[in-house]
This record gives sequence, C-alpha cells and structure tokens, in this order.
Amino acid sequence: MNGDFSPDTLRAWGGAAVERLARYFETIESRPVLARTTPGELVAQFPPYAPEDPEPWEAIERDLDRLVEPNLTHWQHPGFMAYFATNGSVPGIVGETLAAGYNQVGILWRTSPASNEMEQAMVRWLANFVGLPADFDGQLADTASAASLIALAAAREQAFPDVRKTGLSGQPPAVVYASEMAHSSIDKACVVLGLGISGLRKIPTDAEHRMQVDALEAAIAADRAAGRKPIAVVATAGTTAVASIDPLPEIAALCRKEGLWLHVDAAYAGAAASLPEKSPLFAGWEEADSIVWNPHKWLFLPLECTGLFFRRMERVRRAFSVVPTYLETPEGSAGVREYMDYGIQLGRRFRALKAWILMRTFGSKGLRERLRSHIDLALQLEERLRREPDVEILAPVLFSVVVFRFAPAGLSEPERDALNQRVLEAVNRDGRSFLSHGVVKGKYALHAAIGSLRTEERHLDAFLDSLRSGRALAETVKSSTP
Ligand SMILES: Cc1ncc(COP(=O)(O)O)c(C=O)c1O
Repeated sequence: MNGDFSPDTLRAWGGAAVERLARYFETIESRPVLARTTPGELVAQFPPYAPEDPEPWEAIERDLDRLVEPNLTHWQHPGFMAYFATNGSVPGIVGETLAAGYNQVGILWRTSPASNEMEQAMVRWLANFVGLPADFDGQLADTASAASLIALAAAREQAFPDVRKTGLSGQPPAVVYASEMAHSSIDKACVVLGLGISGLRKIPTDAEHRMQVDALEAAIAADRAAGRKPIAVVATAGTTAVASIDPLPEIAALCRKEGLWLHVDAAYAGAAASLPEKSPLFAGWEEADSIVWNPHKWLFLPLECTGLFFRRMERVRRAFSVVPTYLETPEGSAGVREYMDYGIQLGRRFRALKAWILMRTFGSKGLRERLRSHIDLALQLEERLRREPDVEILAPVLFSVVVFRFAPAGLSEPERDALNQRVLEAVNRDGRSFLSHGVVKGKYALHAAIGSLRTEERHLDAFLDSLRSGRALAETVKSSTP
C-alpha cells in the first residue's frame, strides 16, 4: 500500500485525539502532578523493534492509556508549581495542531509567505504587548536558550567583525558578564561560542538578588587591564531561582559607556511587562540590543515559542547569513526578510500561528487578567506561608514565584537544608502539587511558581495541606534517624 492515510482517517484519529485531550483536561486534577515512574521502567515496556505489520488505531489508544498517560508529569495541572509553568492552552493546542497539519517549513519567504509574514506581525504584536518601542524587530525562536545564543553570537560579531572568517584565534580573550543568578543557558552560549566558561564572569548579587553594578564595572575594568575584551552584559529580568530583576537602567548606562552589547534575559517574567503596574520594573530594557522572553512560559503557549527581539536586525544577519546558490531567490535578493539569515535553523516551524490564535482569542486584556490572577495567587500564598511556623520567605514576590524554606531555630544550616529537601520529596510524593528547589545565597530553597491556567485558591489550600503533612513527615524521618 502507498500514500498517506485518508482525510477520513484524519477525521477519525484526529477526532479521537481531541476527545482524548478534552478528557485529559477534565480529569487532570485526579492525577498526581509528578509522574510516579521509576527510571527505566517505561523503556523496558517498548518492544525492541518497530512492528513489521501495521497496527490498528485501537492498539495505539490502549497504549496511550497504558504507557503514556500514567507516565506524564502534568505541566497543566493546577498543582504544578515547579520551575516556571508552560501551558497547553486551548488556543495553543489548536494552533499547534494546525501548524503540524500545514507543515510549513519556513526556510525562505517563498517556502511559506504565511508563516514568514505572520511571524513578522506577531513579533510586532508581542513587542507592543510588553511595551517595547517600535524600533525592536525580531523573530520567534524555539527556546530562550537558543535565543540567547543567537543574541550573543551577534554580540561576538559586533566585537570581532572578522570572526566569521578567522574564528577567535589570535584575538584577545572575549568576556561576557552576567549575574551569579543568570540562567545556565548563558554558560552554554559561552561554551558554544568559543569563549569558554572562563569567558563568562559571574557578578555577585545584592540582598535582593540583583546584579551589583559596581562589581560589574570593576570586573570590566579588571578584564580590560588584563588585555581581555569585554563584549556583552546579560542582565536578567526575572531570575530562574527567585525572579529578581537586575538594575536595568544602571546596567544599560554602563553598557553604553563601555560600548558593550546588552542582552536582557526575561524568559519567564517578560510577559508581566504588559501590566502597567509591573512595567516600571522593566524600565531600562528598552535600551537593550537584544531581549528574550518566552510566550511558552508565562503567556500560555505550549513549547516552543520564544520572542527574540533586536534593535538593528542587520547585526544578527551579519552573524548568521550564509546563502548557498540553491537558496537564492529574487525576493531574497530584493531584501525580503529571510529568517534563515537570522539564526541557526534553516527549516523553521510555523510558530506564529499559535501566538496569533492565542492573542486573538484571549485578547490582550484577557491575557493581562490571567497574569494578574497568578500574581494575586502568589501574593496570597506568600501571606499564608508567612503564617506557617518557621517559614522564611527568601526573596520579594515581584511576580508569581514564592521562594521559601523552613528554618526552625535550633537547627544548623545543613540540618535546615536536609529538612527542606525531605519536605520537597514528601510534597512531590503526595501528588497534589509539584514543587522545585534551588539554592539561594547558599540556602536550599523551595520554589513555588504559579502559572497554570487552572490554579485557583482551593489549590493553594491543597498545597498548604500537603506542605504541612510534608513537614510533619520530614520531621518524623529525622527523629527516627539515629
Ligand atoms: C531566566 C531564564 N532564562 C532562560 C531559560 C531557558 O528557557 P528555555 O527552556 O526556553 O531555553 C530559563 C528557564 O527557566 C530561565 O528561567
């Protein structure tokens, strides 16, 4: 037999898949947030070879029930509080489905005018949504990690205009600066770009976890004095551990004075710049050379959709454009935007479609209301945690993240760390919530981020209940330990 399955089969299987997802969302609360799978348990259940003969759809359905759904960690569960949420909202799911079906491969403008021009429009919508000035242009990248790599490649190109030809050999060692709280994607970018980890200076932070600008200035001066070449500063607006914001205006002024590229990593918090009451926290980011924030984190889109914004896109083009003969087109030669020239990927997905559907169906107002409701819930959670015995809040709650720990008097710091680790394990075993952890100024910290579209006040009740039993259990384990 040749060819694809028929459109009627698409109707049947597609209908069944949509029905399955609807049921999944109807029952999501009854499932433990964190999968209870043990490592290797699932892979052992797959036969070693793909089937020789076609299998019926019903067999797939059975295995979705048996193998897949029990082993999912439910990112859209109302009790999901780990890391930063990523939502498969209804508009996001529909947009993803359509994008898969249309299967546009955005190599060139002509390989998908719809994808190309909708992406240009969505970059504008998203920039407008968070109040970035009109001279920001950009693209929809896959992840913030790849986006920061692209931005730092453009910074490297600006600092070493011959780098494409000669690489970095014979050049003074290049240095990028970021705070000690910056995301590991910046370390990875420095590795990939040939700067090495030794080319990344981690600048200390103040009591509120913000980069210390005097330390940054001193580090730049020390590197220049030692013959190294500072090229860029990465400021974080919404750090991964505590959602703190580096002092953007001061860092921007320093970058201007020093002639350095400023990249702002607002992967999680960027969406909150759409709220008038939060936008002052982002003052200064409009001076950046590049900014990244993720609609796939706190703007209710499923992976992947990252907004990467640039002033003066031609600087990115200089870093990335390689046009072989077979990809030359009259439109390209006439200057149409060819996204392959602005990053690593050649083929690119139709990411704009889900952003377009999301922004039209929720509306900017609806999106802002949802962001506000998460911030309100986080503030409620903070207040309620403060009433719990021995709880210490480890960072100001600027957005939807509460970072805290139990710090009973009479326990040493290592004992407190161990207690909080046990609490984390117990809460995650309980199944009603999923927390993650971090280390904040050397202390083991519990990280609760509100971001699921399904979280309501009653889920805070459930979380606190599970936290109290988790703590009781953690104390028992301790007291039964000799
Ligand atoms: C501040 C920050 N930057 C970058 C990232 C990486 O995001 P992505 O998974 O889109 O690469 C994260 C992830 O949580 C983050 O918190």
